[in-house]
Amino acid sequence: MASRFLIPCISPLFLFYFFLAISSTQTNAFHDGQKVFDVRNYGARGDGKTNTYNALAFTKAWNDACQWSGGRSTVYIPAGKFYLDQITFSGPCKRHVTFTIRGTLLAPRILYADKRAEWIAFRYVDNLTVNGGGILDGQGSYSWRHLNDCDKNPNCRALAMNIGFSFVRSARVNGLRSINSKMGHFNLYAVENFNITRVKITAPGDSPNTDGIKIGRSKDMHISNVSIGTGDDCVAILDGTTNLDISNVRCGPGHGISVGSIGRFKEEKSIEGITVRNSVLKGTMNGLRIKTWAKSASENSVSKFLFEDIQMINVRNPIVIDQQYCPHNLCDSPGKYNSHVQIKDVKYTSIWGTSATQAALMLQCSKAFPCQGVELSDINLVYKGRNGSVTATCENVGGWVYGKIVPGDCRMR
Ligand SMILES: *[C@@H]1O[C@H](CO)[C@@H](O)[C@H](O)[C@H]1NC(C)=O
Ligand SMILES: *[C@@H]1O[C@H](CO)[C@@H](O)[C@H](O)[C@H]1NC(C)=O
Ligand SMILES: *[C@@H]1O[C@H](CO)[C@@H](O)[C@H](O)[C@H]1NC(C)=O
Ligand SMILES: *[C@@H]1O[C@H](CO)[C@@H](O)[C@H](O)[C@H]1NC(C)=O
Repeated sequence: MASRFLIPCISPLFLFYFFLAISSTQTNAFHDGQKVFDVRNYGARGDGKTNTYNALAFTKAWNDACQWSGGRSTVYIPAGKFYLDQITFSGPCKRHVTFTIRGTLLAPRILYADKRAEWIAFRYVDNLTVNGGGILDGQGSYSWRHLNDCDKNPNCRALAMNIGFSFVRSARVNGLRSINSKMGHFNLYAVENFNITRVKITAPGDSPNTDGIKIGRSKDMHISNVSIGTGDDCVAILDGTTNLDISNVRCGPGHGISVGSIGRFKEEKSIEGITVRNSVLKGTMNGLRIKTWAKSASENSVSKFLFEDIQMINVRNPIVIDQQYCPHNLCDSPGKYNSHVQIKDVKYTSIWGTSATQAALMLQCSKAFPCQGVELSDINLVYKGRNGSVTATCENVGGWVYGKIVPGDCRMR
């Protein structure tokens, strides 16, 4: 290297930084007591070009990090654009693994969810950190237009979501961006003690089925300081989710924060213990929505919810319980079926802002299983259209109203 001959004539301080720079690119260096497995040392190239080799290199780096028993290990992806085929990072691993993404990972332009639901999947790992501030680019624009009709067609062929975690425990995702997924962005299934912070998720407001974070069969989770703007739900909370705390979320555009749909299939499990607080929803279709299938096969419940300190900015339907959910005309006729999902102990408190339609509060509970213990307090939603003021619809709802409530015409049973 020519620069070596320059060393005698430059300052010691420069030398210090010079060696710091060199050592950080060394093969599998130790760093803060962690062993670092840099994907470049396995042959990965961050040149943005399509290749099949990167997936192999990433897999090898992961396997070495995962099997490293000398201490914590880090898989390191430096700056650059790394094209990456569909990939699975499987455990169990020997110790804590950190997966640091500094650069951009580029998905294949077309990728169906035939083999696996996600482009990048982590499975069976305990003690995992994913960080680095890098970008997952799902390149969804190549499939949204002509391949993704799952919003209209129940028998559609699903495309791969950006990233999935299943059977992962004690993990955190801290600092990551996910853009333009083909279908959903984050898919969490059967995770436990799992935290997501400082994550930014974006896709155009008119991109189909690009849910932000989907969660099912999971427990003990915290989602905080995230910003999500997509063409579908910001967060979708599906069956079997318990003890989930969501705070400091900015949501919009999109369909809002959704619970369900639940109740369609027999083997589904209840949803319990969900908190959403200190969040802002802006320009979304719904704000806080709970939806259960009208034609339901399961008798489970949705309970112990708290929605607190939420600002709505121009949200079409800020507060919704819909127990008549039945898309794709699967219910013969509207109103024919009554959901068997029991909704109980749901508290809405300190929710304010603007509604883009008059229908600011719609609680349409099941005739067969009326909602129980619904509590409304300090709600102030306004509508700025020329047609009048906000309205409330409350059907088959049992519970209480406290403090100032606008719209105030909700009669509880
Ligand atoms: C994960 O962390 C827990 C708690 O510190 C520890 O008991 C367990 O052995 C760790 N497992 C792995 C694979 O690192
Ligand atoms: C997740 O956050 C909660 C609350 O801050 C904390 O108690 C828990 O240890 C965190 N878990 C992980 C895996 O970081
Ligand atoms: C979230 O952001 C707030 C304000 O910037 C900060 O005080 C808090 O520590 C952050 N929480 C996490 C878990 O990053
Ligand atoms: C307002 O009322 C007019 C006349 O009834 C109706 O055509 C229009 O759709 C209404 N607009 C909204 C935003 O509800």
